[in-house]
Amino acid sequence: MTTVRELLELGIGRLRESGSETARLDAELLLASALNTDRTAVIAHTDAPVGDGAAERFRGLLDRRAAGEPVAYIRGVKEFHGLAFGVDRRALIPRPETERLVGLAELEIVRRLVGAPRPAGAPKLRVIDVGTGSGAVAVTLAALLRRRGMLDEVELVASDVSDEALQLARENAVAHAVGDRIEFETADLLPGAETRPWDVVVANLPYVRSEAVPNLPIAASFEPRLALDGGPDGLQLVRRLIDQLVKALAEDGAALLEIGGDQESDVRALVAERLPGWSCEVEMDLGGLPRVAVLRRAAAGSVPGT
Ligand SMILES: C[S@@+](CC[C@H](N)C(=O)[O-])C[C@H]1O[C@@H](n2cnc3c(N)ncnc32)[C@H](O)[C@@H]1O
Repeated sequence: MTTVRELLELGIGRLRESGSETARLDAELLLASALNTDRTAVIAHTDAPVGDGAAERFRGLLDRRAAGEPVAYIRGVKEFHGLAFGVDRRALIPRPETERLVGLAELEIVRRLVGAPRPAGAPKLRVIDVGTGSGAVAVTLAALLRRRGMLDEVELVASDVSDEALQLARENAVAHAVGDRIEFETADLLPGAETRPWDVVVANLPYVRSEAVPNLPIAASFEPRLALDGGPDGLQLVRRLIDQLVKALAEDGAALLEIGGDQESDVRALVAERLPGWSCEVEMDLGGLPRVAVLRRAAAGSVPGT
């Protein structure tokens, strides 16, 4: 019978050969998956024997990884903002950069609720996550607001043009016990502003230039093209969303848009051209790259109560 150590060595070698830059980490995660345990147990018990069934499963997972499939799809799970999200080919794997978008959106919502407490019977704060994909942004926001005891004060909608992605987002919302706190809508960008405008719009829309999509790392070829392709200049969807904001965003509303690290000046130019007089602040991510554009009408420069 083979041991954990032997299988790990086999896996690391196989994945290095296939070009993985994170061969050890990948092998540990995949072996943990084959053994139905976690990575810590694999690292802690390298002398433990492994049965033939699990060893065979591990080899199957290695084949998939060696063919380029992302570890997150193989494991069926990705950690995002401290929560575990189910992931598969129905939607993009949530990226760590997007945690910045969530952090800023949480702050924006909390400042509004704390800055201007709502009288009993006042309408809830209307918040939408546009292009929700796996639901990472909307579900994390719901979990964070529930922890703060503020979820009842918010009407949270998650939209996507992909019904498959929305199905996955619903599953994730149920898994995190917020399935009944988020409304899921199939829509091309922003739905429902005719009823009442949105107070906070949060969006991580596709922003890769069409011609750059085939050059992304092979793992991205397993993700839906619809989740990556932002059109010829990468800003096709962002541009359309910006145009919708004129009518769809409340007078004192804010729109938080994730952007590519090289798109700051293009997004600023778009806002200047299409939303004259609006402000556009750009927040950096942990890597020091421009990552989130925050748009407001000029008169709404500050959040109520701040
Ligand atoms: C970059 S992914 C982001 C997914 C998720 N919000 C995240 O951060 O992990 C973009 C998402 O936008 C969706 N999308 C693409 N075009 C759209 C459109 N016209 N209207 C609404 N959603 C769209 C895609 O289906 C995909 O789920």
